[in-house]
Amino acid sequence: MKTIIEPFKIKSVEPLRFTKRKERGTILKEAGYNLFNIHADDVLIDLLTDSGTSAMSARQWAGMIEGDEAYAGSNSFYRLEQTITDLTGFHHIIPTHQGRAAEKILFNIVGGKGKKVPNNTHFDTTRANVEISGAEAVDLLIPDGLHPNLKADFKGNMDLDALESVLRKEGPERIPLVMLTVTNNANAGQPVSMDNIRKTAERCRVYGIPFFLDACRFAENAYFIKIREPGYEKKTIREIAREMFSYADGCTMSGKKDGLVNMGGFLAVNDDELARQARNILIVTEGFPTYGGLAGHDLEAFARGLEEVLEEDYLKYRIRSVAYLGKQIEQLGAPIFQPPGGHAIYIDAKAFLPHIPPHEYPGQALACELYLCGGIRTCEIGSLMFGKTDPKSGEFKPAPLEMVRLAIPRRVYTQSHMDYVVECIEAVFRKREALKGLRIVYEPPVLRHFTTKFESI
Ligand SMILES: Cc1ncc(COP(=O)(O)O)c(C=O)c1O
Repeated sequence: MKTIIEPFKIKSVEPLRFTKRKERGTILKEAGYNLFNIHADDVLIDLLTDSGTSAMSARQWAGMIEGDEAYAGSNSFYRLEQTITDLTGFHHIIPTHQGRAAEKILFNIVGGKGKKVPNNTHFDTTRANVEISGAEAVDLLIPDGLHPNLKADFKGNMDLDALESVLRKEGPERIPLVMLTVTNNANAGQPVSMDNIRKTAERCRVYGIPFFLDACRFAENAYFIKIREPGYEKKTIREIAREMFSYADGCTMSGKKDGLVNMGGFLAVNDDELARQARNILIVTEGFPTYGGLAGHDLEAFARGLEEVLEEDYLKYRIRSVAYLGKQIEQLGAPIFQPPGGHAIYIDAKAFLPHIPPHEYPGQALACELYLCGGIRTCEIGSLMFGKTDPKSGEFKPAPLEMVRLAIPRRVYTQSHMDYVVECIEAVFRKREALKGLRIVYEPPVLRHFTTKFESI
């Protein structure tokens, strides 16, 4: 059969609230043209993020009731620990309330002034945690990864030559670890090949530098490897994931993505001393090492989610339904980052709105218009998220790409929801020349996209 259906039935539903365009105009203005400031009730289709927005299965909900709420030594923790150890092979599993808490603990220990952390592309929270520690976050994406129109299989890969020269120049004294983000969220959710993971690990080993994965979307990445990388067609997702992790010395993970839970994360490491230090920080900031900021029921649902995410029928539906949305948008003639990523479609706002310059935030302008048009909430990934204004010279440094991310929550929306989204994009695309840019009226010192306020130009 050609049609890929949702590999689940819907048992419990949540109503959507419809609003009128005029009402949305007022809401948007009051929100300072920042979609993070909008009440979720005022959103019809919420594609702001795929993080923590998954629908859990009946089996996970059953696990919530069975969750062991013991402060120390919870059964649910041991179940989660065993699941992660079986999947990754790492020796120490340190639960955290979400991914950034794992990053904070890790970079608290290994970061610091004068250090550099290479990554294919740091996600915003990873970059912020590296920088807050005093270290420098260095992105070393392959040059092909920056071309939105180029259709290639693994545009999330690390540039190995660039990595080699940074490693040679700085050495283990200045590089505490190298990270690879799979899939590469900040670069349109593009996957990283097994070959690139293996070669990155080999370079690190030559210089005696630990290698970590940012594993939020490890299962989606593993599925791309299965369907795109020769030699992996017949392997199970678990086998592929296990091989990915086998090259690393540790990982951070936000369970809010491929853990299929609404809250949860972990840090996993092989190094005993690093684990000891991490657990000491964990006790102060997150909680006792057998719950780390999570309730017993969260640990239980997380353990079950990590098993369900490996099901091939689920991953096939997941990747194909994101690609379906991409194909429909492409057929309108609207520019998207090619090929579609694992968890989201990224509209190329620079090509969609070429008359709006980066310092007037074309991505944010487009995201606001999609909300106005159909109550669709998306997320700017461009100069609002990654651009910077030099405090001394006042010079504006734009991000390399201006994109609007349509992140698809897992197991939440159906094909007709996506068809509605496409219809809105079509309406906005038709009137694109009339869209105007935005000017910042307030901006915080870090992670500015969450709370910046704008006015329309
Ligand atoms: C690649 C990547 N790393 C880290 C994080 C941070 O995870 P969390 O939101 O659970 O703190 C995210 C969240 O979106 C992400 O996409």
